[in-house]
Amino acid sequence: MAQDAFHVPVQKSRALQRRDWAGQMIAPSADQGTKGPSSFVAKTFTVDNPANARLHISAFGLYRAFLNGKRIGEDYLTPGWTNYDNRIDFQSYDLSDLLTAGQNHLEIWLGDGWYRSQMMWRDMKVFNCWGERIAAIAEIEAEGQVLLSTDDSWTSGLLPVTKSGIYYGEDHDARIVPKPTHGVEVLTFDTALLVAAECDPVAALPAIEPVESWVDPDGTTVHDFGQNAAGVCRIEVTGDAGAEVYIDYAEVLGPNREFDRRNYREARAAQKYTHAGHGTECWEPVFTFVGFRYARVKVTGNAQVLSIVSVPLTSVPRRAGGFTCDLPLVNRLVENTIWSQRGNFIEIPTDCPQRDERMGWTGDAQVFAGTACWLADCNRFFTSYLRDVVHDQRPNGAVSYFSPDPTRIHPKLAKGNWAGSTGWGDVVTVMPWQHYLHYGDPSVLRENFGAMQRWLDYLWSISEGPIIRPNSVWGGPGFSFGDWLQPIGDNRKPRPTISDDCAATLYHFISTDLAARTAEIIGETEAAERLAARRDEIRAAFEAEYFTQTGRLAHNDQTSYALAFLHDLVPECHFEAAKTYFRRVIEDAHHKIGTGFIGTPALLPALSKLGMDDLAEKVFLNREVPGWLYQVEQGATTIWERWDAIGPDGTIYEPSMNSYNHYAYGAVCQWLFEYVAGCRPVPEAPGFDLVMLAPAILPALGQVSMWHDCRHGQIEAGWHIDGSHAHYSVTLPKGCTGLLAADPSRPILSVNGENTDVPEGGLKLPPGNHKIVFAI
Ligand code: BGC
Repeated sequence: MAQDAFHVPVQKSRALQRRDWAGQMIAPSADQGTKGPSSFVAKTFTVDNPANARLHISAFGLYRAFLNGKRIGEDYLTPGWTNYDNRIDFQSYDLSDLLTAGQNHLEIWLGDGWYRSQMMWRDMKVFNCWGERIAAIAEIEAEGQVLLSTDDSWTSGLLPVTKSGIYYGEDHDARIVPKPTHGVEVLTFDTALLVAAECDPVAALPAIEPVESWVDPDGTTVHDFGQNAAGVCRIEVTGDAGAEVYIDYAEVLGPNREFDRRNYREARAAQKYTHAGHGTECWEPVFTFVGFRYARVKVTGNAQVLSIVSVPLTSVPRRAGGFTCDLPLVNRLVENTIWSQRGNFIEIPTDCPQRDERMGWTGDAQVFAGTACWLADCNRFFTSYLRDVVHDQRPNGAVSYFSPDPTRIHPKLAKGNWAGSTGWGDVVTVMPWQHYLHYGDPSVLRENFGAMQRWLDYLWSISEGPIIRPNSVWGGPGFSFGDWLQPIGDNRKPRPTISDDCAATLYHFISTDLAARTAEIIGETEAAERLAARRDEIRAAFEAEYFTQTGRLAHNDQTSYALAFLHDLVPECHFEAAKTYFRRVIEDAHHKIGTGFIGTPALLPALSKLGMDDLAEKVFLNREVPGWLYQVEQGATTIWERWDAIGPDGTIYEPSMNSYNHYAYGAVCQWLFEYVAGCRPVPEAPGFDLVMLAPAILPALGQVSMWHDCRHGQIEAGWHIDGSHAHYSVTLPKGCTGLLAADPSRPILSVNGENTDVPEGGLKLPPGNHKIVFAI
């Protein structure tokens, strides 16, 4: 169950807030561009009364600020990552402990960050994506009085950070003492772009010590932190001035424990420290992060690394939920999902934190949105990300493959203008919907409704009708990733896979349905009717195109059945037959998963919805490839990008396109919370005003328990089996009513010790503790 330290109330979503700035955006004249060292801007100033002083600060690039030599705040990678041409976050810090009466010195370090270090990969690299100049804007105010602000009187100089970049890593020469050698240039800048930080800053989790260290044959020392995470290494080092410590990273080792970093592709992803010779020095990089489990240390010259720890970074440091059962492999799978969320929720939801990619892929975020909200408070995080998505939306309504999107800004350099894939762009309907279910705030639906409609018009336009026939040319107009990374099984006899047109049409339906429901909730009656009519048209066209007369789906694959059943696309006349086909498809696959990115989150919920929990249990607990527990048994500590990333003999499948920290398949956790533990948020009373209680009793899991911090407080639920009875306990916080669902497959014997008739529509349970007994 939850620990108290974890219990923090869910935050309210935040509208954009601006302020009037006295400060100007100033660029260090010392700056030498992306190939050069980092620079700072600084100012010495006096203050009579330091009481109640606050610093407001932001930057082009990344900043870290120091007042009188002390770091201000504990945040990482500020001001964060947004579509900087749309808005840039600023932070505000209380300076009570740092500002003194008399003379003070404010120094702002600037790094390239996402703003201008390399984005994208191979021959599509983009430098200076949002601008060529790094710069800072800051002001200190107290009780309405401006005590200091950035202007042309500031100085600048070079930093000991001799090079940094998101993919590059960071080099630091501690012998370099920052000196003011230059002035600054005031840049033309519209301060209306600056908005108060929209979500929590990136924070460091408790540092992780190595669990094992050894020396490789080449003399380098390898440290295993036992946990794949995204962050930096902090070292303590002693030695001679000029001695170097070079650290690079890996997520996995080869079959003979060789350090394997092929999946970082061209990302240098390393950090280098040059010792100043001042005894024991402690250092960690400032302007970068990387995903890793292993660190390899090479020392050149006379230096000794006294300690090394992994410092995981994340925008979601506090857990909002947990799920455990009697099977350690399942519990580890949940932990792995949490770690993948942490490592990929750094400012925006990314695909992976290690290779030269790390982009806010919309499809990954879309399929994981529900799970994400169970495991962490994503209220503000998703609200902010959706603003980036909407800003990237093309004039024709196409939503970009990832957001923030360098291909929108630099289509020539990025060799494409990537937007419009179904399953990916549907983030504009699915994410606001999941957000609404969890946080109950219709303003996010309202904020994104225009984008939803534009997206739907675009989808319709691809093939001028309900059935979408995607372009097969990668990145071309109307291209779709389909059910990306769907396993096809044994090459000699591949398993059936969904076609791109069927996958695209299914999502066309899902998004139209969600937009129609959204319109109704926000009172757009006319739009709601229009969208509902369109949804029905897609439903009819889907049936005509993809159902055979005997009720079989055209591709007879797991993804088609899962999505069609989950989203009520199976007509009455075909229901039983389609269900039988679905069962056979899974049995023919020997209960191995046959779904990719978009089918996976739907598979087990669809089986449970149909009452086929026996199958759901077998698929979930399958320990072979492809299956969730296979990777856990192989020692994974985060979720893999590919089902078959590492073979049973340790061989790596497609080494350069293989991330070991990709949360998408962790989306199965939503099923654990909503079906196995049986707690489902409902759109009629969102934000857990009402929670549907309908557990799927899977005997193989033994005892199950879950907790979740919703906006009303903590929900707890769990069950255990005793002979032919399942005992289900639920605790509901004040403000949260339960709706116990009737289900003939597991009749309710008693509720809180009493024989109770549960009406068809369910039995309402007030806040408090409840004990329900089911017959199984
Ligand atoms: C990313 C994915 C993404 C995909 C699109 C990959 O390179 O890592 O997670 O969704 O491209 O197909």
